[in-house]
Amino acid sequence: MAGGPRTPDASGPPKIRVMIVDDIAETRDNLEKLLFFEKDIEVVAKAMTGREALALAKQYRPDVVLMDINMPDMDGIAATEALLSQVPEAQVIMMSVQGEQDYLRRAMLAGAREFLPKPIGAEELYSAIRHVHRLATTQRRYVPTSSGAITGGESDEGVAQGQIIAVFSPKGGAGTSSIACNLAVALRQSTAKKVALVDGNLTFGDIGVIMNLVSTKTVADLANRIGEIDRDLLNDVLATHASQVKILLAPPNPQTGELVTADHLRTILELMKKEFDYVVVDTQSSFQDRALAVLDMADRIVALMTLEIPCIKNIKLFLEVAELLEYPKEKTVLVLNKADNRLGMRVENVEENIQHKVALQIANAGHEMTLAVNQGVPLVIAKRDHSTSRDIFALARMLSSGLSARTAGAPKQEKAPEKSGLFGRLLARR
Ligand SMILES: Nc1ncnc2c1ncn2[C@@H]1O[C@H](COP(=O)(O)OP(=O)(O)OP(=O)(O)O)[C@@H](O)[C@H]1O
Ligand SMILES: [Mg+2]
Repeated sequence: MAGGPRTPDASGPPKIRVMIVDDIAETRDNLEKLLFFEKDIEVVAKAMTGREALALAKQYRPDVVLMDINMPDMDGIAATEALLSQVPEAQVIMMSVQGEQDYLRRAMLAGAREFLPKPIGAEELYSAIRHVHRLATTQRRYVPTSSGAITGGESDEGVAQGQIIAVFSPKGGAGTSSIACNLAVALRQSTAKKVALVDGNLTFGDIGVIMNLVSTKTVADLANRIGEIDRDLLNDVLATHASQVKILLAPPNPQTGELVTADHLRTILELMKKEFDYVVVDTQSSFQDRALAVLDMADRIVALMTLEIPCIKNIKLFLEVAELLEYPKEKTVLVLNKADNRLGMRVENVEENIQHKVALQIANAGHEMTLAVNQGVPLVIAKRDHSTSRDIFALARMLSSGLSARTAGAPKQEKAPEKSGLFGRLLARR
C-alpha cells in the first residue's frame, strides 16, 4: 500500500520523506492526517506489514520510518533490522503502546533512533521526526578520514564537539571503573566513532589494570605542560587499546595525582571534546572540585546505583545535589548495575522512593566481571553475548542514539566556578 509518488517540491527546501508502517489501517490514516498540514514533512509510503515495509523502503528511500512494533508477519524490531541493512540512511522511530518497557531496549539495539509510546500526540510526533532527521544530517557530516581524524560535524564556532559521558556513583564499588571501560569499548564497537576513555580517579586509578595497558605517560604529563597542550601532545600521551579506544591513564601514584587540578581537567577535557566523538570518564566518587569539574562538563552523567540501601541513600543525595547545581534532569542517566532480582528489593519501589526513573539495568555478571578484569580483557570483548555485555551495548546505543540527545536538550555550558567546593558552589547559587 504505497502513498503518493516521489514528488520533489522545487519551491522550497526538500521535505522530510516519511514512511508509515502499521498493520492497523486506522492508525496509518490518523498518522497521515496528523502529518498532512506540516509543510516540511511528506508521507511518501504506507505499509501494513513488515515485509511490505522492506519493499517500499527500497523503492521510496524514506528519510524517516514510523514503525509499529507489533505486526503479524514480521515484528517491528525484525523489520527495522532488515530495513536498515537495505536502506541505512533511514531513521526509524519505533511506536508502541505504553508499558512495553523491554521493547525500548530491543528497539534501540535494532537501530531505532526514537521510541514513541502510543497514543502519539501531534507535537511529539512532529518534533521526533524533525529531530531524527536533523540528527541524520548532522551525523552524515562526521566523516572519519583514513587517519581517523574527524572532518565536518562542526559547531557554530567551526570545531567538532564530542560528548562527554561521566560514569559516576556516589558510592564506591558500584562498578564505575568496570562499566566505564566496557562502555567505552561498546561505544567504539557499535558506532565506529572516535572514543576516548579517561581515568578520572586521580588517586587510585584502575583503568590501566582493567584494560591491561602499561604506559609511562599519564594525565600528569598533560598537567605538567598544560600551557602548551595541543592535539600532538594529547596524542603522544594517550595509550591505544586493542579496541582502538584511546586511553588517558591516571598518574602512577597518589602524590603525583595531587598535582592535577580541576582547571587542568577542564582544559584537557575541552581539548578531548574537540578530538573525539565520545569521551567516557571514570569519575571519582566524590563532590570535591575535580570530580565536580567533570560532572559539570559532562553532557551525560551515567549515575550507577546498586540495590543496596547505602547506595540508594547516596543516589538520592546525589540527585538532590544535581538539582541544586541546576543540572537538567535529563543529564543524569540513572543505571542500575549488578541488577539481580534476589536482593529483596523491587526497582519500582526504589524509583518511587528516589523520584527518578532507572533508564537501564545492567545484569549482575557474578564472577564473570571480576574474571574479565583479572584477565585484562573487558567483558564486552571476552564475552560479547553475556547478558551483562548486552546490557552495556544497550547503554552505548541509548547514549549514542537520538533518543538520548533529544531528551537531553542542550546541557548548560558551565563556566569555571568562582567558588570552590560543593558548599561554596551551592552558596554561590543562592
Ligand atoms: N555488572 C556487574 N556484575 C558483577 N560484578 C560487577 C559488575 N560491575 C562491577 N562489578 C564488580 O564490582 C567490583 C567493583 O567494581 P569497580 O572497581 O568497577 O567499581 P568502582 O565503582 O570503580 O569502585 P571504586 O570505588 O573502588 O573506584 C569489581 O569486583 C567488579 O568486577
Ligand atoms: Mg573505580
